[in-house]
Amino acid sequence: MASLTKTVRVAQRLATTTSRSALARPTLSLAQHAATTARIAISCRLNSTSAPKTPQPAATETVTPLDPKVYSQLPRTLQKMTVANKVIIVTGGARGLGNHMARACAEAGAKAIAIFDANQELGDAAAEELHSLTGLPVTFHKVDVRNGDAIDAAVAEVVKIHGVPDALINSAGIADSNIPAETYDRDMFRRLIDINLTGSFLTAQAVGRAMMAAKKPGSIIFIASMSGSIVNHPQEQCCYNASKAGVVQLGKSLAAEWAKYGIRVNCISPGYMDTELNRVPALDAQKKIWKSLTPQGRLGGVDELNGLAVFLASDASSFMTGSNVIIDGGYTCW
Ligand SMILES: NC(=O)c1ccc[n+]([C@@H]2O[C@H](COP(=O)([O-])OP(=O)(O)OC[C@H]3O[C@@H](n4cnc5c(N)ncnc54)[C@H](O)[C@@H]3O)[C@@H](O)[C@H]2O)c1
Repeated sequence: MASLTKTVRVAQRLATTTSRSALARPTLSLAQHAATTARIAISCRLNSTSAPKTPQPAATETVTPLDPKVYSQLPRTLQKMTVANKVIIVTGGARGLGNHMARACAEAGAKAIAIFDANQELGDAAAEELHSLTGLPVTFHKVDVRNGDAIDAAVAEVVKIHGVPDALINSAGIADSNIPAETYDRDMFRRLIDINLTGSFLTAQAVGRAMMAAKKPGSIIFIASMSGSIVNHPQEQCCYNASKAGVVQLGKSLAAEWAKYGIRVNCISPGYMDTELNRVPALDAQKKIWKSLTPQGRLGGVDELNGLAVFLASDASSFMTGSNVIIDGGYTCW
């Protein structure tokens, strides 16, 4: 019931607006009209047979690296929107959003990609696949983002193999959902904060230090979440929401501190995305509600952060730091 509150509010607002223009019709009172329109709006949203579909990348996806000859012929504006010759580290790049942003960077001209992830099997496979699809140097570094020493060692490896990183895309993260605060296990709470928030800090610190030591400007991109700005319905997930609000504020703080080193820090805050993280049967019923609360009526596709990730890593966003860009199909409009 609570899950529909927002939809009801929106539908009632719409109904009120409609009613204002139809005040001349005396057959329904304003309240009756609002209630009727609200019911129609809700049933349209939840039962629509032509519900928008989430775009899916092709099963046999190709990844075409930017040809230097093509780059040289691009107008200056488009050249700046590439990541030509940049070394890019992607945490959580073994799968999901991180993996697709790594692919996008490879297409947009990256010189080398380093994938940091805790999952050895997926990480090895992802690096091998991206290398074989593009011919680019792609390395996998098994790292748990909670382990500062391991991150320092992995960043040192990247510097040695590929050179000083130009950009970090920080996508490693986990989610706990449907856990009421009053029964939240304390160790689970600490674990999530450790991965999502402390892990973001430790990785940014290691990469930031490498950029500073080399006096090289760079771009750090945190994948936060709209949950850092709103409280999701209907699932209770106070820890995830708090962790992502922390990531957004961490991003702003580092942006302010590190502007003097030429290091920019921005956040991408996605709404509900169609990734493995959400492909669990327990969430099927809730997904219908999420879609009904999203103006575009669907979840985001796994590659729908790619454009912004490349832009933020590129020199086209050179005056952009401390920003948090929400990509959510309009969820936070309502
Ligand atoms: N999917 C969504 O709807 C959604 C929405 C908003 C924000 N996000 C955020 O986007 C990021 C990526 O999400 P996704 O949907 O691609 O998830 P995913 O589970 O598909 O991928 C996450 C990756 O992070 C890695 N990882 C997890 N814990 C790690 C650790 N301790 N150390 C190193 N690597 C670790 C995993 O092995 C995995 O490869 C996360 O930070 C998530 O919170 C996702």
